[in-house]
Amino acid sequence: MEKEFIEVKNERYRLGYHIMASNGWINDPNGFVYFNGYYHIFYQHHPYSEKWGPMHWGHARSKDLVHWETLPIALTPGDVEDQDGCFSGSAIVKEDTLYLFYTGHHYYGDNDPDHFWQNQNMAYSKDGIHFTKYEHNPVIAKEPADNTHHFRDPKVWEQNGVYYMILGSQENDGLGRVIIYRSKDLLDWEYVGPMTKAKSLAEEGFMWECPDFFELDGSSVLLLSPQGIEARGKDYLNLFQTGYFVGTLNESDMTYAHKEFKELDRGHDFYATQTTLAPDGRRLVFGWMDMWESEMPEQADGWAGALTLPRELSLKDGHLYMKPVRELQALRQETQCDTVQKIEAECELAHELKQHELIIDFEKISLDTAWTLSFDTNVAQVMHLTYDPKNHELILRRTDNNEARYGTIQEEKVFSCQVFIDTSSIEIFLNDGETVFTERYYSEAPLACRLTVDQPTTIAHTVYALDSKAITYI
Ligand code: FRU
Repeated sequence: MEKEFIEVKNERYRLGYHIMASNGWINDPNGFVYFNGYYHIFYQHHPYSEKWGPMHWGHARSKDLVHWETLPIALTPGDVEDQDGCFSGSAIVKEDTLYLFYTGHHYYGDNDPDHFWQNQNMAYSKDGIHFTKYEHNPVIAKEPADNTHHFRDPKVWEQNGVYYMILGSQENDGLGRVIIYRSKDLLDWEYVGPMTKAKSLAEEGFMWECPDFFELDGSSVLLLSPQGIEARGKDYLNLFQTGYFVGTLNESDMTYAHKEFKELDRGHDFYATQTTLAPDGRRLVFGWMDMWESEMPEQADGWAGALTLPRELSLKDGHLYMKPVRELQALRQETQCDTVQKIEAECELAHELKQHELIIDFEKISLDTAWTLSFDTNVAQVMHLTYDPKNHELILRRTDNNEARYGTIQEEKVFSCQVFIDTSSIEIFLNDGETVFTERYYSEAPLACRLTVDQPTTIAHTVYALDSKAITYI
């Protein structure tokens, strides 16, 4: 009997304006690209269950980065070159064709999940909907001799008429690294060598997943998701990290010299980023809005996982800012509140929050004001964000797992806070993306938001109801 896709049994945590699959599991965003008038985003997807399994590529497209239509599954595993999964990868447009590069995953069949091998493959499409796997796959059959079997997540770009592909990998010495290949035609790939690698296991990890490399504001940025970095004080507290290096590429041998690794998002639920260059030159990014091995209560309902909102990256003083794309203003429906008010000690800013955007303008607040923004229901506390002006520190506490996450700011204070609330997610952008917290939450009762201040202060705040049906599912 043919296997059937899992169905969503309960809509309680389904998001209103974030990309999910129509059913089943998703993880990493893949293949973010602009092609023939549409942005396309793909994602790691297992449509047969609410858990990770043989990876397919789910697919959605949008003309405006706001309203997305899901499309048929683009890649299904099971062919000789991708027997046990079409793992993460990227997309590139050449002439009138959209090319996908992805990792073929293969188990040796002894029931040991770490006993696998990986190769790199290509698929192409002219209409951006139906994809054909390249008949001469794999385009890269095996890892270099000094590499372990961790060899995946191709990111391809074009530079001065040459195509480059970087891969996340692990050197035989057990350290994470990025290796690079080049090609004239996207079909034949030649190994160039290692681009950069972890300086130590504890500091930079054993395997670098989902690398992405681009020029931004005059520097070269390597964005990646290392596994195995040890927690250090208030940093690297997630199981796996997503962050970046800023540096310089040596174009003669494609090695990359860079500064220290920095986390990109300070929340619990952000991993495996994928960027693209918008037609107007902006560098846009999606992340997976979850974390490996965290609780995912929506699994009880027949699905799991979502992508973050699309965000724009920019670089200032070596720090990567990440703010929601301006197109998201098109989500706004009705303005529920738009006021300037003096707060003595505490004030409810909004209630009945489901699909809402909340903007707080702290311009008038004095530099030494401590504040807490809390998101609670009438039955439970959910999440609190506190600003400590003495240390320029932000502390986010989640009450479900009782774990704090921390961020700092370089600016002299927090002057703005933009929050996107959806049925089961909260994304908080401080100072236009200087510090960001991405979080999932699970509560069937709607949230209310309160602001507490340690001295009387004046703020402006706006609340918009947002479109709750921005994504259409097939
Ligand atoms: C990152 C990752 C990738 C891999 C994919 C498999 O979350 O582990 O390295 O390609 O997920 O689904």
